Amino acid sequence: MDLSFKCFRGFYFSVATSNVVCVYFCWLPQSNSGGMELGDGSLNPGFRDVDGGSAAEDPGKEKRDPEYAQIKPYAGMPKEVLLLHSCKARYRVPREILFWLMVACTLALVALTVTVIALSPRCMNWWQVSPVYQVYLRSFKDSDGDGVGDLKGIQKQLEHFQYLNIKSVWVSPFYRSPLRDSGYDVEDFRAIDPLFGTMQDFEKLLAEMHSKGLKLIVDLIPNHTSDRHRWFNLSRTGDPHYKDYYVWSDCNGSAPRPNNWVSVFGNSAWTYDDVRGQCYLHQFLKEQPDLNFRNPHVRKEMTDIIHFWLEKGVDGFRVGAVNRLLEAAHLRDEPQVDPKKAPESVASVWDLHHDYTTSQLGLHDLLRDWRAEMQAYSREPGRYRFMVTESYDYHEVDKTMMYYGTSLVKESDFPFNFYLLDLPQNTSGLWVKHLVQLWMANMPKGQWPNWLVGNHDQPRIASSAGHTYIRAINMLLLTLPGTPTTYYGEEIGMENNNGTDGPARDPAGKYNASASQDPQRSPMQWSSDMNAGFNNKTNTTWLPLHPDYRSINVKAQMEDEGSVLAQYRSLNTLRQSELPFLRGWFCFVHADASVFSYLRELDGLSRAFLMVLNFGGEPAVTDLSSVPELPDLLTVQMSTNRSNDDKVLHKSRIPTEAGEGLVIQYTTNTRFHPNHPEQCYVSEKACYLSAVDLLYQC
Ligand code: GLC
Repeated sequence: MDLSFKCFRGFYFSVATSNVVCVYFCWLPQSNSGGMELGDGSLNPGFRDVDGGSAAEDPGKEKRDPEYAQIKPYAGMPKEVLLLHSCKARYRVPREILFWLMVACTLALVALTVTVIALSPRCMNWWQVSPVYQVYLRSFKDSDGDGVGDLKGIQKQLEHFQYLNIKSVWVSPFYRSPLRDSGYDVEDFRAIDPLFGTMQDFEKLLAEMHSKGLKLIVDLIPNHTSDRHRWFNLSRTGDPHYKDYYVWSDCNGSAPRPNNWVSVFGNSAWTYDDVRGQCYLHQFLKEQPDLNFRNPHVRKEMTDIIHFWLEKGVDGFRVGAVNRLLEAAHLRDEPQVDPKKAPESVASVWDLHHDYTTSQLGLHDLLRDWRAEMQAYSREPGRYRFMVTESYDYHEVDKTMMYYGTSLVKESDFPFNFYLLDLPQNTSGLWVKHLVQLWMANMPKGQWPNWLVGNHDQPRIASSAGHTYIRAINMLLLTLPGTPTTYYGEEIGMENNNGTDGPARDPAGKYNASASQDPQRSPMQWSSDMNAGFNNKTNTTWLPLHPDYRSINVKAQMEDEGSVLAQYRSLNTLRQSELPFLRGWFCFVHADASVFSYLRELDGLSRAFLMVLNFGGEPAVTDLSSVPELPDLLTVQMSTNRSNDDKVLHKSRIPTEAGEGLVIQYTTNTRFHPNHPEQCYVSEKACYLSAVDLLYQC
């Protein structure tokens, strides 16, 4: 049989049955006779003339198949008739055009999708979008009237976070503990202390938080355990497996301490244990023996604990006291800050340079391993597990920045930024600028900043800086780039409760009353009701209430549009709804003895924000006329003093009271950052295309 491809038209594709049939037959090799041989040797006329030409174009065809040539297409026509017509130019050409159009559209769509994906900026993570709210469990909300806050109490107050538009909540330790250090002395890392509830309470809390879109961050306390922990008992009794779980060293009557190391809470970091007949190391209380992370079994134990809580579904860890995880194995004395001081009077953590008890080699490997465990649980969409580390490195900012890890090996999502805790030392615009710059100028490129002004270990900012500044401070935290952390009560301007009678509950206060951390841990002030709404069943609370709770409380402030709370809420909404605050550039604009001013802008977006905050003691008038990128007239969007809202100011005269902060929104087509690169920083950079309302990588 003489085969030829008379009907070669390339590869056709169509879902329409007729087309498929036609394509199939158009591909078939045809015999010269113009038909296909049937089994009996006769030709099937239906297979003739499938070369794409119409019968009209080929008069010979009509002669060959006069009976079919006359038939017009009709519904239900047999295959032979269908084929005869479907390959005619008038059907085939539109079909081919449609087919190639479809191919072109599909390719264009694929190309567009790939381009959009490639150009889209990275999605921001939950811990970047929302501030972190720190709940100090003992003091937040007491559900059962025993005077101590508990897990069910938090569950009752979840609406508070929703009201504030807060998505990330860090809850201080709830593990089984003798509570010598408020739960940072853990007896069992896998159990809930009955004072705070049960494991079921924890699971219910977590489930409800997740159902409300809230994330839960818990404490990981790897440096030490309680001296009541099972491991410590086994270690002091010399169990072969556990004997090196802690840091032990010989000591005796003539040499009662192996070296001069001191505890954070004061006095020697070594305590003699008469069961084992050796000294053990404790960088905190003597009831908090330090774990020995040079022992692989200890490392494995901690990894298992991390797994345990990740399996439960927690969203992240605040890893405490990380700089103290390892000590120098040689146990040499640390150098004294004042070499003339008598060695026997060295008793405070400030007396020594902590060359051998902090930031030791190997420490970052531990954190990298823990981070890797968390990454393994972060793969599911929306289930990113967050890690923040606590390390007070004071002014050794390079050490702090190391906790970000490197661009190849990740550690913390951010190490806590404690530098703004120094804000009260000198309230001036220049000082605040200096503290902000300390972080921005030293943070590794591409990392995410964070800010806080308080926690359970620090005096409340409203007391240390003064109540006048609390609104401006909240405004600062919520408009700087990065994640702010809010210690419970800061959103209403709670102050230290110094009028605490009776013995200090906090270990630091036991050594030195003025260092007590009880004042900043007083119960949350929910309302002016009995016990400030902290509980309503008893008249005792574990720490006394601040007497100002009758005026400074959540309920009263919810009813007052000008309250610290209302302002916190509006600022948080602004932060999360305006792209320049989350994604935009941060630029220093001005600083003097009173005022600190900066702006937030995003490439492509004409809306930008100028912040003017007066941290000085006097009213000030700021002249920004030398900043050509700013329009002459500026409208105050939000002032900490509501009577100044909506005021239109000339940029050469921006008045502020002491403690007043202004958010000024303005429209511009001239960006500030290209002209002042040395004053500007950006983390999650993106550009805006207003024509299509699209954010893209740039
Ligand atoms: C953490 C806690 C602190 C505690 C210390 C020792 O740093 O923030 O309150 O005292 O660990 O456990």
